[in-house]
Amino acid sequence: VCPGSLIVVSNRQPYRHEYESADGVDAGNGANADPSITVDEPTGGLTAGLDPVVQRTDGTWIAWGDGDADFDVADEDGCVAVPPGEEAYTLRRIDLPEEAVDSYYYGFSNRVLWPLCHGFPELVEDRANDFEWYRTVNEQFADAVAEHADEDSIVWFQDYHFALAPRMVRNAVAPGTTVAQFWHVPWPAPSTFRYCPAGGNVLEGLLGNDLLGFHVDRYVDRFLESVERFLPAARVDRKGRTVHYEGTTTRVVATPMGVDAAGYDREAREVGSGAGVLESLRSEYDVPHPDDAVIGLGVDRLDYTKGIPERLAALERFFERYPDWRGEFTFVQKATLSRTDIPTYERHGDLVRSEVERINSRFGTDDWQPVIYTEDYLEEAELCALYRHADLLVVSPLVDGMNLVAQEYVAASVDDTGDTLLLSDRVGAHDLLGSHAITIDPSDIDGMAERIADALEMPIDERRRRMRTLRDRVFDADIERWMSAQFDWMRRLHGDPSRSG
Ligand code: G6P
Repeated sequence: VCPGSLIVVSNRQPYRHEYESADGVDAGNGANADPSITVDEPTGGLTAGLDPVVQRTDGTWIAWGDGDADFDVADEDGCVAVPPGEEAYTLRRIDLPEEAVDSYYYGFSNRVLWPLCHGFPELVEDRANDFEWYRTVNEQFADAVAEHADEDSIVWFQDYHFALAPRMVRNAVAPGTTVAQFWHVPWPAPSTFRYCPAGGNVLEGLLGNDLLGFHVDRYVDRFLESVERFLPAARVDRKGRTVHYEGTTTRVVATPMGVDAAGYDREAREVGSGAGVLESLRSEYDVPHPDDAVIGLGVDRLDYTKGIPERLAALERFFERYPDWRGEFTFVQKATLSRTDIPTYERHGDLVRSEVERINSRFGTDDWQPVIYTEDYLEEAELCALYRHADLLVVSPLVDGMNLVAQEYVAASVDDTGDTLLLSDRVGAHDLLGSHAITIDPSDIDGMAERIADALEMPIDERRRRMRTLRDRVFDADIERWMSAQFDWMRRLHGDPSRSG
C-alpha cells in the first residue's frame, strides 16, 4: 500500500478519450454521456500495471492528454475522474501543443534519450530547440504536480520523459514530500552517456529525486559512474548507492518490474485454446497454413532496439538448415507501430516488412507461409490467446530495459505443454529468467537459428520443467512485488512511522 497520497506522473495516460469517428473503434464507453466518445485503454506495460494501484490509493495521475476528446470530457484544469463508470481517482491531463509534442516527445525524449540509453549514440539527433521544449514541458508537469502535492504526497515519475522535473518539483514543494522516479529503460555506460546533449542538466534533474529506481544492478552502477564522471560536484557513495547533490540525497535502487501474472494467467484460461486468433489472422491475410504446425511467436513494438530483423534473419537461416521444418513450423510476428514520425522508425518498419516478404516468397508454398506478420491492434484477450497458443516465444532485443512481453508469455502459458522462451541475454528480464529460458545472442544469427532448432527438438519433460520454473519466478516477482518494493523504499527513506500505510 502506498505510504502517502500518490501522484503518478507519466507521459502516456491510462485512459484516452477519442471521438469514435477518429478510428472507428468502439472500445466501450463506460459512463460517458456522449456515445460518440470511446475510451481507449492501452494494453500491457506500465500504465495498465499501475492503474489498479492508483485506483486503490485514491491518488492523482498526471499525463499528456493525447486523445482528441480528452479535454472535452475533462474540467477546465484537464481533470477527469477515471476509470469511466467506476471513478476511483483523478486523471489530470496536460495539453501539449503540436510543437511541444514534436520537440519534447519526438525530439529530446525519443531522438536523444531513447537511443542513448539503449546504446545507439549514432542515432542521436540533437535538433535545435528540442531540449528547450523538453525543459518547458517538464516545467509544465512540475507545476501541475506542485498544485496537487502536499507534505504527505508521494510524487512518482515514470521514465525518461521526465529527467528534469524531479529537481523542479523538489524545489517547489514542501520538504516532507517524497519525490521518486522509476527509469524504465536501461542506463548506458558513461562512454555512451557522454554524448548526451545537456547531460549535466539531465543528471541534476534526476538527482532531485529521493528515490531513483532501475530494473537491474548494472543500470544502477552505470548511473552512479555517470554521475561521478559528469557531475563532479555530486558526492557519490557507490557502496551505499546514494548521491548527495545540492541538498538532496538520492537513493538509487534496482527493483525489477514484473507483470500482473495472475491477470494474464486468468485471461489466458478464459480465452480457451487460443486457436481462434490464429485462425482469424490466417483468414485476414489469406495465409495457407497446416492445422498442426508448431507456432513460434514474436510480440514487439516496431522499434530498432527489439532485434526484429535479426530474428527474421535467424528464422531464414533456420529454414535453410532445417528444411524438414518447412511446412511444420510457422512464425507469427505481431508488431505494434510506434513513433512513426521519426524517420529512423519509418525506415526500420520498411526494412522489417520487406524482410518478411522476401522470406515468405523464398520459402512459401501453396500450403504454407513461414511468417505471418501483423500490425493490427490486438485486444488483451486476443494477445493472451496468441500467447497461450504459441509453442515458443522469441524475444531478441539488442538491448531492452526489462522486456515485459517475455513475462506476459510465461504467465499466459497455462497448459503445461512445454512452451519455450528464447530470450536475449541483453534484456533486463534475462537476469530473472535466463537460467530457465533458452538464451540467445541477437548478434549471432547462426547461433539463434541453432537455438530455435534446439527449442523445437528439446524433450517435452525438459521443456515442461523449465516453464514451470519460469512461471514460479514470474509469479513471485510480479507487479505487486515491484510496487511494494518501491513503496517500502519510500517509507524507509522517510523514516516516518506514520507513513506506514
Ligand atoms: C517503452 C517506454 C515507455 C513507453 C513505451 C511505448 O516501454 O519505456 O515509457 O510508453 O515504450 O512507447 P510510446 O512512445 O508509444 O509511449
